[in-house]
Order: sequence, then C-alpha cells, then structure tokens
Amino acid sequence: MSDYRAALKATDPDIYDTLIGEEKRQREGVEMIPSENYTFPEVYAALGSAFTNKYAEGYPGRRYYGGTEFVDVMENLARDRAKEIFRAEHANVQPLSGSPMNQAVYLGFIEPGSTILAMDLSHGGHLTHGAPVSHMGKIYRFVRYKTNPENGAIDFDQLRDVAKKEKPKLVVCGYSSYPRDYDYKPFKQIADEVGALTMADVSHIGGLIAGGVMRNPMDAGFDFMTTTTHKSLRGPRGGLILCKKDHAKGIDQSVFPGLQGGPHMNQVAATAVTLKLAAQPAFKAYAAQVLKNAKALASELMNAGAHLVTGGTDNHLLVVDMIKSFDINGAIAEKALDHAGITTNKQVIPDDPNPPMKPSGVRLGTPAATTRGMKEGEMKQIARIIIEAMKNHADPKRLEGLRQETRVMCSRFPVPGL
Ligand SMILES: Cc1ncc(COP(=O)(O)O)c(C=O)c1O
Repeated sequence: MSDYRAALKATDPDIYDTLIGEEKRQREGVEMIPSENYTFPEVYAALGSAFTNKYAEGYPGRRYYGGTEFVDVMENLARDRAKEIFRAEHANVQPLSGSPMNQAVYLGFIEPGSTILAMDLSHGGHLTHGAPVSHMGKIYRFVRYKTNPENGAIDFDQLRDVAKKEKPKLVVCGYSSYPRDYDYKPFKQIADEVGALTMADVSHIGGLIAGGVMRNPMDAGFDFMTTTTHKSLRGPRGGLILCKKDHAKGIDQSVFPGLQGGPHMNQVAATAVTLKLAAQPAFKAYAAQVLKNAKALASELMNAGAHLVTGGTDNHLLVVDMIKSFDINGAIAEKALDHAGITTNKQVIPDDPNPPMKPSGVRLGTPAATTRGMKEGEMKQIARIIIEAMKNHADPKRLEGLRQETRVMCSRFPVPGL
C-alpha cells in the first residue's frame, strides 16, 4: 500500500472504506455508461501530486503568482500536445470540466440574449447546449434542430431552414447520446451562410478523434472544438478548448479571468500525460476497438430483437428503446442491469413521450469495457446478459445469477491501476 493510502486509511477510515467499495464496484461490474472510462494509472499519479498545491492564475509566462517555473513548462507541454493531436492552432487546457468549457465559449464570444442554434436535447444534445433549467438556457435564446425521424440522422435541411429564419450567432454540434457519425462540413457551410460561428462539443468522442478513428471538426475549419478529457480520451476530469489562432486571446480571457480563477494544475498535468499516451499507437488500436465493440454489442442486441435508436451505431454508444424492446422504461431497466452488474444510464429517446426520470431508453457505451481489454466476444456475452436481465427484470434471483456471471467475466479483465 502506498504511503498516501496508508495515511488515508489511518486518518479517515470512513472515507477509505467508501474508496475501497468504489474500487471493488469498478472491478467487479461492467461499466457501460458511455461518458465514463477507467483512466490511465499515470493519471492517478499526476492527480495525486504536489501540483495540487500550486496556484497559477494566468497563463505560462504571464502569471499572477510566483513559483510557477515548473507549472509553466508543464502547461506549455499540455497545450502543445493538445494542438498537435487535434490539429488546432490554439489550445486552452484550463477548463475545470466540460460545462465551464462550453460556457467559456458562449460567454466569451456571444452577447447575452443572442440566438444559438443547437440540437434538440431529446435528440442527443447536452444540458449545456441550452437546457431551460441551465443558466446558459436563461442567458441565451437557444433554437433547435433535430434528427430525421425516418433514419435518425441529423436533418440538415431543417437545420438550414432554422438557421436562415433565426440567424443564430453560433451553431453548435456534438452530442451526449447521438449514436451516429456525421460530417462537419454542412454545419460549417450553413453557419457561413448566416454569418454564425461554429462550435463542436466532441466531449464524448474526443478520444476517438485523438485516436484517428472519427472525423475532426478542426479539419472542417470549425471556430471552436470543446472536449471533456475524462470520457473516451481516458484522462482526468476536465475540459479542453481548441480554436483558431484568431480566437486564442478571446478564449484565454474568457476562461481566465472571465469564468474561472486558479486552474487545477494537478489536472492540467494529468491532461498532459493523457495527451502523450493518446498519441501512441496503442491508443489508436484502443480507439478502433471501442468502435468494433460498439458494433458487436449493437448487432448482438438487435439479433435478439432489441430496438436501437437509429437502428445501430457508428461511434462508441448506442441507445436502446426499452419500451419498444421489452415493454419496460429506462429507469426499471437501469436498476435491473445494476443488479446484474452492468452499469448503464436511463436516457430519453428522440421526442420521448416519457419524463427524464422514467424515460423510454437506456444508453450503453464501450470505452470503459474496452480499456480493460474486452473485445467482441465479451460484447456478445454482455448483450446476452442484458437481454436476460431485461426479460427477468422482476426476478431478483435470476438477476443475482447474472451478476455472478458478470463478476466471473470481469475477473479475467483487470482494471488498469486498480
Ligand atoms: C456533450 C457534452 N458536453 C459537455 C458535458 C459536460 O461535462 P461535465 O460533466 O464535465 O461538466 C458532457 C457531459 O456529459 C457532454 O456529454
């Protein structure tokens, strides 16, 4: 046991016990929440390091605090690595997480009260894309585009119509629960036609873009790309903003002093390490396997009669319509799957008639399971466990049996660093 862990155990056994419980839960169950992952062991080292002690308001070479000679070198490495891996002219590595990262773009470049065009939330948009309950939804006037009900793809004709009518200042793409790949060029084209800026929030697929298996919005000339660092990228919790050189000053000022105070330098160090690891061939292979696993999971579920929103997946996630598939809502499904050792989350489907706490769907994703080395064979087994759990959702004994099966499968795939 490390000195740190021994000290924690001795000083605060209550918290230590919750940590041990959480580690066991992560080891023994299959993590299928698409926004979660198991981070690199090196990230734990950077997060739990002396960088956590350091205040460094400002940017490398222009700080409001002394003693920044090492954090300056470190933050510059993080910025350079982010620029390189995402082919961007500028990177800001300080956003504390995904929500402030998006807020920094809006608040830095869009006047309060202005119009922003983003995906309808039930079709896959995130809270920070203007949910009425979010502050951003109150500060800005969000208008919506949707997916096509026939095939589930983004409806660019409708998007163009809304853009022409509403004249937004910003067009937002990038999603939390959209299982398809999409082309960034039509977004850029439409935004150019109405004089809007473009932002792609690729939080979910940042790792897949870094790994070279999905399109990069910077290649399509987007103004801004934002991504969390803790999802498919497998880093610490945090956010990155990539942008063109012209927007560099505006973004940096918007993050600090506009929105945040001192950056979390331990998190920035962990991000730098993550970006180094994500540039290596092993990560490219990982990203490719994430996609293969999602396809295998989707086809096994569909073969067993499950209905997937859009009829499949091109990325790391899939949304199962639980009402249509098994006549149970997403909340019941999530609970039964938890019992069977498979962690998922309930999810609204496009134009869901049901409320968010009892929605029609469940969202599944492959980044975490792939990190521990699971492949297509395990995805098939997981699909079978899911189907059995759904058919027996009211039978605790059967669910306990499935949990046993999950545990045995997981014991063959250690979680890195745990
Ligand atoms: C597309 C998208 N953007 C932003 C966020 C917000 O990230 P955070 O939870 O780190 O604030 C999420 C989180 O799930 C997301 O899916």
